Amino acid sequence: MTSPIMSTYARLPVTFTRGQGAWLWDQNDKRYLDALSGIAVCNLGHAHPRIHEAISKQSAQLLHTSNLYGIQAQQQLAGKLVEASAMDNVFFCNSGAEANEAAIKIARLYGHGRNNARPQILVMEKSFHGRTLATLSATGNARIQQGFTPLLEGFVRVPFDNIPAIESTLQQHEDIVAILVEPIQGEGGVIIPEQNYLNRLRCICDDNDLLLMLDEVQTGIGRTGRMFAYQHNAIVPDVCTLAKALGNGVPIGACLARGKAADIFTPGSHGSTFGGNPLACSAALAVLETLEGDRLPAQAEEKGQAICSGLGQRLQDNTAIVDIRHKGMMLAIEMQQPCTELVGKALEHGLLINVTAENTIRLLPPLVIDHQQIDLLIETLATVIQEHSE
Ligand SMILES: Cc1ncc(COP(=O)(O)O)c(C=O)c1O
Repeated sequence: MTSPIMSTYARLPVTFTRGQGAWLWDQNDKRYLDALSGIAVCNLGHAHPRIHEAISKQSAQLLHTSNLYGIQAQQQLAGKLVEASAMDNVFFCNSGAEANEAAIKIARLYGHGRNNARPQILVMEKSFHGRTLATLSATGNARIQQGFTPLLEGFVRVPFDNIPAIESTLQQHEDIVAILVEPIQGEGGVIIPEQNYLNRLRCICDDNDLLLMLDEVQTGIGRTGRMFAYQHNAIVPDVCTLAKALGNGVPIGACLARGKAADIFTPGSHGSTFGGNPLACSAALAVLETLEGDRLPAQAEEKGQAICSGLGQRLQDNTAIVDIRHKGMMLAIEMQQPCTELVGKALEHGLLINVTAENTIRLLPPLVIDHQQIDLLIETLATVIQEHSE
């Protein structure tokens, strides 16, 4: 029988019924260690009591009114986000792609405000910004774009982590108004740029009056060892997009803006029915309070280091490995050969991992993973990789 669900995903043969922290259980009550967090979503793990409490309380009070009216939890969440990020204001939506749509619209309005009738946004090769038509046009992956032409115009592409390429492109294109970039490319293979990359982008944007727009949908909310990845560089962007871990599983996206980017939207220029509703905002408030209270970004730094060095030691003689790298709890084991079959092998061993860019094992464990679970993760993954390399 064909499935009543459209076949947009190549699903693994497992269905989870409950979770606790970094553990998940399937329909047969088999236990799995989650080293992926729903692809960087459940940073606080599964069934976190603070999130459960916030959602239950809010759902008993008020689920939805509309952005036609004031929303208390949205006000509070915006205040907390602005304080944590050094940005000025926030637009709330429901996903990462939507947050990037808002950023793209801000960049276009910014350009038009400067009498630029065809504003262009500089984007990167191997980037990922979402699956809506605008965000897949911005994405640097031909496979994701295939079949969806005509793509949205208005994007100029350069290689990631390559400042000279940006400088020469800016000389050739007068219409560029913004740079949209992930601080670390997630889907592209956990590509960590040289340490000063964001500082140099900040300077280029200042010198050329461009908006620096950071897609922190995957890197944000404590994942890399700071609340936001740009805080490793002591810069502040003009626009920053968030989603994924902001609601720990409750859908919410956010587009933060600062300075000249903060006054661009006016009533009527953008909107969302569900964006910033009381339920999602209450969940996100509880996420931010817990992250801060439990100092989870600092834990991400320390635990990511422990996983990286543990795997490095266990796999030091394995010649199939090209590189093991990480920024906080965003980790990659790059292999010589394509290795997508490792996902299924790890699953058999009770471990959830992901392979991206065909040859890179990606780990995004919940930040609440404990040290015993870290040891189990290292041991299980090393075994899976060794068996595969034999
Ligand atoms: C960097 C980045 N931007 C945007 C998105 C799209 O987010 P969503 O799937 O919530 O639309 C993703 C999702 O993986 C992402 O990693």
